[in-house]
Amino acid sequence: MSENKQKWDSNLSFLFAMIGSAVGLGNIWRYPYVAYTNGGGSFLIPYIVSIICMGIPLLFVEYGAGFKFKAGMSKIVREINKKYEYLGWFILTPTFFILTYYCCVVAWDLIYLPLSFTKGWGASPDNFFTNIVLDAGNPGGLFHIAILVLCAVVIVWFILWFISHRNLNEGVGKFNKIFIPLLFVMMIIIVLSAITLPGASIGIAKLLTPNLSAIFDLNIWLAAFGQILFSLSVGMSIALAYASYLDDKTDLPKNALTVAIANSLFEIFTAIGVFAILGYMSTTHNIPIDQLVSQGTGLAFVVFPQIFNVMGTLGYIIGPLFFFCLLFAGLTSNISVIEPLALAISDKFALSRSKAVTIVCGAGFIISLIYTTSMGGDLLGIVDTFANNFGVVFNVILEIIIFAWIYGLENIIPSINKNAKFLKLGHKWTILVKYVILVIVLCIWISGIVTTLLSGETLTVTVELILFIALIGIPAVLTKLPARNDDY
Ligand code: PFF
Repeated sequence: MSENKQKWDSNLSFLFAMIGSAVGLGNIWRYPYVAYTNGGGSFLIPYIVSIICMGIPLLFVEYGAGFKFKAGMSKIVREINKKYEYLGWFILTPTFFILTYYCCVVAWDLIYLPLSFTKGWGASPDNFFTNIVLDAGNPGGLFHIAILVLCAVVIVWFILWFISHRNLNEGVGKFNKIFIPLLFVMMIIIVLSAITLPGASIGIAKLLTPNLSAIFDLNIWLAAFGQILFSLSVGMSIALAYASYLDDKTDLPKNALTVAIANSLFEIFTAIGVFAILGYMSTTHNIPIDQLVSQGTGLAFVVFPQIFNVMGTLGYIIGPLFFFCLLFAGLTSNISVIEPLALAISDKFALSRSKAVTIVCGAGFIISLIYTTSMGGDLLGIVDTFANNFGVVFNVILEIIIFAWIYGLENIIPSINKNAKFLKLGHKWTILVKYVILVIVLCIWISGIVTTLLSGETLTVTVELILFIALIGIPAVLTKLPARNDDY
């Protein structure tokens, strides 16, 4: 991997890999909730503005850097200035945190997938998830392993390793080209079935009814910007790694636009399906939608199983399709997180792709074992909040400082524009990233930190402290280790 290098065999492979990374669990279980709680139909305005003014411009930065330098984050930063290598590893560390827990969420889904064919979670999905799957009530806490989760986590890691350690096009490329279209087709079937359910239109109306005052609420704008950062997987160095494998003839702006549009269409379309299903439950069982709406695991492993339980035969079809969608969306995103880490390691230590992926997966697997304990669910939530609210958003700030302020975006523009046919970047993009986006991301970061700090329970604070030490320490060790690659 270090002598770069691997190359995508076609632009389509790159596109599907990028869409696979962007379209993840967040599109299915985060966006509908965020949109609903932030102004419903009116949310589309801040949302679209933030795609255009922040999401796509930031994608250009990561694409441009990867495409120009043809290397991973730590090597690029080192090439800009030897003294900054630490920052490169620092940026990669939250990405590693995400890798360690995201696979566990995919593992939970893997448990639910076979159960969905028989509605095997029983009459009380809430109790089933907390006490049977997570075994959260077990007094053994950190010293008790939830066996079911452990088995599923081992399988997920094996799948991730198996796909990623192979040649780029045979593994990651092929996997995304098969499973992304499959995911889209399955989601279309779910949404089309969902909108025919009684009460569906009531749910959809709830999602889309505009609350115009929302447009004047700063928090809603911050929520939209935050959703776009997460949804497009910016700040994790994924786009940068994937773009480093691109052929020199690629039209970068066209690719970035395609990824952003595909991601948002999927997200909005899925939200319609989710709210149609919630509307069905609300109408048929006379439960206010507000009591049903939730996000994350609460939506996927509690509310939806409850709804599938009352859906009759259709529940046996939509249920498995839903868990298949989560699995494919989760795996394709999960695979993308391995890439920037493996690339950086092979850049520095002159390792083959296969060896670098094995090291990343091995380290990730060992750490992910803590989420298979009875405290796993709680710990996962804390690491998730820390890695995203604190780490990834801060990464975006660092990326802007490194590429826009120190290196200069004008030095990246020629590479981005080289093959651009209908959109060329110029001075306006530079100003946008350097000043406007920097200020917006700073606001998101500060508001995220305030929320995180306010939740000051002992467990949360302790875990955050450990994460903080790891965030400072891991990059220091990786920077100190001597490089084995001559051109590093
Ligand atoms: N864009 C992804 C999503 O919406 O779920 C974000 C993501 C999270 C990508 C975690 C990759 C990942 F491992």
